[in-house]
Amino acid sequence: MTSQIIPVEPFDFVMFGATGDLAERKLLPALYRRQKAGQFSEPTRIIGASRSKLSDQEFQQFARKALSEFVKPQELDADEVERFIARLSYVPVDAKSGDGFPALKQAIGDSDRIRVFYLAVGPELFGLIADKVNEHGLVCANARIVVEKPIGRDLASAEALNDLIGKDFREQQIFRIDHYLGKETVQNLMALRFANKLYEPLWNSAHIDHVQITVAETVGLEDRVSYYDKAGALRDMVQNHMLQLVCLVAMEPPSSMDADAVRDEKLKVLRSLKRINGNEAPKMTVRGQYRAGASATGPVKGYVEELANGTSNTETFVAIKAEIANWRWAGVPFYLRTGKRLASRVSEIVIEFKPIPHNIFGESAGPVAANQLVIRLQPDEGVKQWIMIKDPGPGGMRLRHVPLDMTFAQAFDVRNPDAYERLIMDVVRGNQTLFMRRDEVEAAWKWVDPILGAWADSRQEAQGYTAGTWGPSSSIALIERDGRTWHESV
Ligand code: BG6
Repeated sequence: MTSQIIPVEPFDFVMFGATGDLAERKLLPALYRRQKAGQFSEPTRIIGASRSKLSDQEFQQFARKALSEFVKPQELDADEVERFIARLSYVPVDAKSGDGFPALKQAIGDSDRIRVFYLAVGPELFGLIADKVNEHGLVCANARIVVEKPIGRDLASAEALNDLIGKDFREQQIFRIDHYLGKETVQNLMALRFANKLYEPLWNSAHIDHVQITVAETVGLEDRVSYYDKAGALRDMVQNHMLQLVCLVAMEPPSSMDADAVRDEKLKVLRSLKRINGNEAPKMTVRGQYRAGASATGPVKGYVEELANGTSNTETFVAIKAEIANWRWAGVPFYLRTGKRLASRVSEIVIEFKPIPHNIFGESAGPVAANQLVIRLQPDEGVKQWIMIKDPGPGGMRLRHVPLDMTFAQAFDVRNPDAYERLIMDVVRGNQTLFMRRDEVEAAWKWVDPILGAWADSRQEAQGYTAGTWGPSSSIALIERDGRTWHESV
């Protein structure tokens, strides 16, 4: 069975930061793949815009190189690449001085086609670009603006940034990307919960013991020192990606997949998160920083050794015991952990059900493990429901914990699309379901701010952990104190 492609209407995609990392690694490859899949209608155009003074041909050359590096060779087709390159043009613009915007206006022309302004630039330019685009009369009814995180570094700066963009674009035109929402398995979580009768009656504190969300990376700082050292793991991963995952696990069934119906329910979860104050932070949170150790490819430096000044208290690891204060979830901890330079790259959500109330099998049958639903985001995307069965064969009743594998990728014969492919097409379609609304971003900061405050007040050093391990020992203690253990992610 193959998936069905529904073409989108023709659009103009204006890419600010067109010569940057995101454009090169993600946006150009994603757009190419959607064209190849047959999702574009003609005439669709991609206009690169950034400070570098490039000609159309030079930008096209940049795009050719990006495709050859970031699209798998088997997905590259010479004719398809040429068709893609022919859509590309380039206008040098300077958001600060405003130079180049009249030329951009001319390049776009007065068509009433769908117009996407994608801001693949730092947040300090969001307001400037939105203003310039508006001043030059480019915000037509069909215009949309796309921004990437970080949307602020605390509640106040997030509000300020939202105000700036909100001056020029209506909320219905603003697409705040959290690329985790574009991941296939994350959407599958919604299908699992709301397209099946099976789970919903069990999806509450009467039947679920706890939830674990792990987003572990093996990479270190990469080339992002200036951003990352000011952000840290709480701002970089928890405020956005991990809280969005919490929302999808914990939200009430929305009345439809309509963007606001879904986002209203996610917002209620964010607002129900129990605030972690100064006294509680030491027992509910762990901050770590990697020290020298090993990765799969050999020895690696510690975090501070990667910095020019050789000193920093920024966390590269966070573990948090979060609680949701509402009827469905009271008493069910959500253990979150994320970090860089961990033992393996794995992102998953584990729903652990309560143990059976009484064991009729006796000791000889072996232990009865609790049911677990494991939703694996990456790698090896899939869903496994762990259940107890009888060990096959004669010889008495022995029990075994086995996974029911609900990974259907092979049956559907489809490549797992990159999150950006799905999200960019949703922007063109004007579907905001998988994008964060202003109030969601701000509610997430409202929960994160007191944790940041508690950490700043206590002036505690981040706890060291050896690169290539699962983080500081206090992360293990955080969950073991409650008589539970982290799911072994292999
Ligand atoms: C980004 C963070 O949002 O997500 C990075 O800024 C992180 O620090 C990345 O590495 C992880 O994304 P993925 O899709 O590789 O899990």
